[in-house]
Amino acid sequence: MIIRLVTLWIIFNCALFLFGCSEDESSEMTLVSEKGDDIFTAREWNVIQRLSPLPEAPPPNPTNRVADNPEAAHLGQMLFFDTRFSRDGTVACATCHSPFHGFADVEGTSLGAGRGTRNAPTLLNAAYNKWQFWDGRADTLWSQALRALEGEVEQAGTRLQYAHLIHQYYATDYESVFGALPKLEDTTRFPSDGKPGDSAFDSMSEVDQHAVNTVFANIGKAIEAYERLLISRDAPFDRYVAGDTDAISVEAKRGLKTFIGKGVCILCHDTPTFTDNEFHNLGIPQGTLLEDPGRYAGIPLLLADPFNGGGIYSDDTAVAARILNFLEPIQQHQGEFKTPTLRNIALTAPYFHTGDFPTLESVIEFNNVGGIGGNFAGQREGTLEPLGLSEAEKADLVKFLETLTGESPPAHLLTKPNLP
Ligand code: HEC
Ligand code: HEC
Repeated sequence: MIIRLVTLWIIFNCALFLFGCSEDESSEMTLVSEKGDDIFTAREWNVIQRLSPLPEAPPPNPTNRVADNPEAAHLGQMLFFDTRFSRDGTVACATCHSPFHGFADVEGTSLGAGRGTRNAPTLLNAAYNKWQFWDGRADTLWSQALRALEGEVEQAGTRLQYAHLIHQYYATDYESVFGALPKLEDTTRFPSDGKPGDSAFDSMSEVDQHAVNTVFANIGKAIEAYERLLISRDAPFDRYVAGDTDAISVEAKRGLKTFIGKGVCILCHDTPTFTDNEFHNLGIPQGTLLEDPGRYAGIPLLLADPFNGGGIYSDDTAVAARILNFLEPIQQHQGEFKTPTLRNIALTAPYFHTGDFPTLESVIEFNNVGGIGGNFAGQREGTLEPLGLSEAEKADLVKFLETLTGESPPAHLLTKPNLP
């Protein structure tokens, strides 16, 4: 990672040097916009065009054969809002990923069946993510959902419980998408509750365990089909890049200039989703939370997950397995967290994986001073120097980030459908 960053840094600085973005105001005279928007050089405009538009559809996910099936998405939407899918019947995905808070959590760390240790990210455009979770311990949206469904601090139920709920309430919807359910009415073969590690599950035959795992995986695949519809595009920033010079304010344009220049935000937030899909250690202090190894612990969890993209519940293992083969936890990964998207960032306070930063101003100030010490795992990335931004530059940067709020997905996707 550091090597890659150093390379990027060198390339970036060479670019600044060659094209004179920072030092010499007089060399900024090569201006592009047809409408005479005279704030960016041609070179800067090229960089900006790497950030927009958001590709028309999220990348296909061959590990989930129903990823783009509308019936599966409808089932997934019901499951997303159905609190029966939790140990005590009170928590659903929507509890922490509120459609009215950018599908993120208002709280710093989320309260489900227990209190977690990380902030809930937005689900808007999550289908574009290469990795899921701050530590990348899921490589698909469907396997991510399974971890939430059984996670002790999330929904904390069990796959046997969920298979029975599907059988009881969703059999028709399920079977029309995935085919026949196993004979779940036979409760000697299929006890009402249990997951691996519980004697009820472990004493089942392997064939029946596999049948339950398949239903469980399909629950995740239906939820993914729904999440793939949670797309938010056409932010003012996108309209600006598409040629509407008035779509964002002068302050926001200056903020954009800082974003790709002096602020070096573009080093990591460098694609139309504003993430390099990589992991970095910014040295975010854990505060009262324990030190968090981030990616270092995420990789072994991903490799050991029977529901990863290379596993037997995946509908196409070819690409996923090849990627997984390259993963190995090394010390460098200590304290690294995923670069999150910045689209809709104004909607999803508080910030960073700890949820300890209440405002965009506080995030920018953290970057500006070059870290604030405190307790965190591993080493803060060496290339991250203090930025020396003025008050005006910081304020403009916030104005720019506010232009990344896109259009909401269609209204019918934002509310709880009638549940069977
Ligand atoms: C108790 C609160 C809670 C519940 C319930 C919950 N989540 Fe989350 N979700 C979180 C938190 C916190 C994270 C970040 C955890 C981490 O990275 O370790 C997260 C991460 C995610 C991510 C990864 C996003 C990213 O950019 O990395 C997705 C996708 C997601 N949740 C979807 C779901 C779905 C689908 C459900 C229901 C099956 C669900 N969540 C239930 C709190 C919750
Ligand atoms: C070295 C890569 C890197 C650079 C440079 C960088 N970021 Fe980030 N950014 C990240 C990572 C990684 C995180 C998540 C860190 C964590 O929570 O541990 C993050 C988090 C954020 C968040 C919080 C997102 C959320 O959902 O909680 C914002 C806002 C943000 N960055 C904006 C910026 C801005 C503005 C700049 C430039 C001043 C910048 N970043 C520079 C990698 C980077």
